[in-house]
Amino acid sequence: MKRLAIVLAGGKGTRMKSTQYKVLHKLCGLSMVEHVVRSVRSSEVERIVTIVGHGGDEVKSVLGNQSEYAIQSEQLGTGHATLQARELLWQESGNTLVICGDTPLLSSTTLRALFDYHETNGSVATILTATVDNPTGYGRIVRNAQGEVVQVVEQKDATLEQLSICEINTGTYVFDNRALFEALQQVTNDNAQGEYYLTDVIGILSRQQRSVSAYCMEDVSESIGINDRMALSHATETMQQRIITEHMKSGVTFIRPATTYVEVDVQIGEDTVIEPNVVLKGRTTIGSHCMIGANSEIVDSQISSDVVITQSVIEESTVQSKTSIGPYAHLRPNSHLGREVHIGNFVEVKNSTIGDGTKSGHLTYIGDSDLGKNINVGCGTIFVNYDGKYKHRSTVGDDVFIGCNANIVSPVHIDDKAFIAAGTTVTQDVPTESLALSRVKQTNIPNYWHKFSKK
Ligand code: UD1
Ligand code: CA
Repeated sequence: MKRLAIVLAGGKGTRMKSTQYKVLHKLCGLSMVEHVVRSVRSSEVERIVTIVGHGGDEVKSVLGNQSEYAIQSEQLGTGHATLQARELLWQESGNTLVICGDTPLLSSTTLRALFDYHETNGSVATILTATVDNPTGYGRIVRNAQGEVVQVVEQKDATLEQLSICEINTGTYVFDNRALFEALQQVTNDNAQGEYYLTDVIGILSRQQRSVSAYCMEDVSESIGINDRMALSHATETMQQRIITEHMKSGVTFIRPATTYVEVDVQIGEDTVIEPNVVLKGRTTIGSHCMIGANSEIVDSQISSDVVITQSVIEESTVQSKTSIGPYAHLRPNSHLGREVHIGNFVEVKNSTIGDGTKSGHLTYIGDSDLGKNINVGCGTIFVNYDGKYKHRSTVGDDVFIGCNANIVSPVHIDDKAFIAAGTTVTQDVPTESLALSRVKQTNIPNYWHKFSKK
């Protein structure tokens, strides 16, 4: 049977109190709607239509060609939103998953199980339900004496008796495609919110004596629909636990998982240890046997194996194996460190390459430069890359020794095996194997203390 999907993402999300579209709020590095579309895509769906609202161009640009789109220019409810896919889908025969863009925790495993269940139960509609402790805010599943689903009633329309039902509508359904669009045309807005409810389709089909089923999910934590910031934070926490548990299963140690934040696309190798308060974001990959020390933040970076990072910030950079970084180092975008490099206390690197075995232990700025192998960069060295108007690049060859407090005024080239005396300001190229020395010769004036104290 052909599998189709409609993602409802047209609502404004007023309860978020935000200038941003609700479904674009992020959790663990991806927007809600991206999480939903990912799960849908991995449940063997052939076409996805996302319903976007007025001003939903941003939703389109986030999802790109992962979906087709239909516009809902007025937000008249979930039923009205679903109906906007009619033109694109009504001719299809198959089963259509309808899912809300604000239920990002629903896994592809659950969606596949829902499709499988629907495909074998002979119903025209199967609702994904969950039995929860606190059903407040959700639509309730109303069953008849035989236990068959007859209706979904919204919180605001429910009787006191219905409010006590703990089986909720997760907002996810599989429908026979034709039956869905037929029933949708009969939905009215005669209810407490004056909206066209998608949930009314269930009652309509049931009254037509067509069989409606419910698939009650096991992991209730997946069912959360995010309507406000409290739910967003709650869902983020649940997703965090899920992500970190997966890493632990594949051999990563977390010293205090509850304090660690790892986004959904981060990869970590076996036997790597993640200390408390570590933040790993974006498309970061970390190799095996690494040590990521407390309070480090790594964003969109590739770290090889056996790397030690202590209390440092790394952005859009690459680090080869056996290199150590920190404490208090900062790799800014486009920094590429070789093997067995050491970047130490209060060293900042930006848009630079650093060759194997090069060491810069303390208080240094390396910007817009290419450093070779086995260089010693003395304490307090500055690559002077900016003349007030333009940025310039310098290069340093292999085995160079840069003494403390040197200024390398770019653009210059320091050739292999050169020495830069401490305190030197390098303004010209330095040839190989030579010493560059640019400081004023020291003179000692005797008896200065006596002259000074007479003043
Ligand atoms: C909906 C269900 C409720 C269910 C809950 C699960 C209805 C009437 N109610 O309620 O039974 O328990 O989800 O989370 O369906 N949307 C549009 N256009 C609109 C209105 C909404 O595209 O005009 C989209 C929203 O962007 C959102 C989704 O539909 O992604 C759900 O809308 P929302 O207003 O959050 O519905 P709930 O009140 O949570
Ligand atoms: Ca919702």
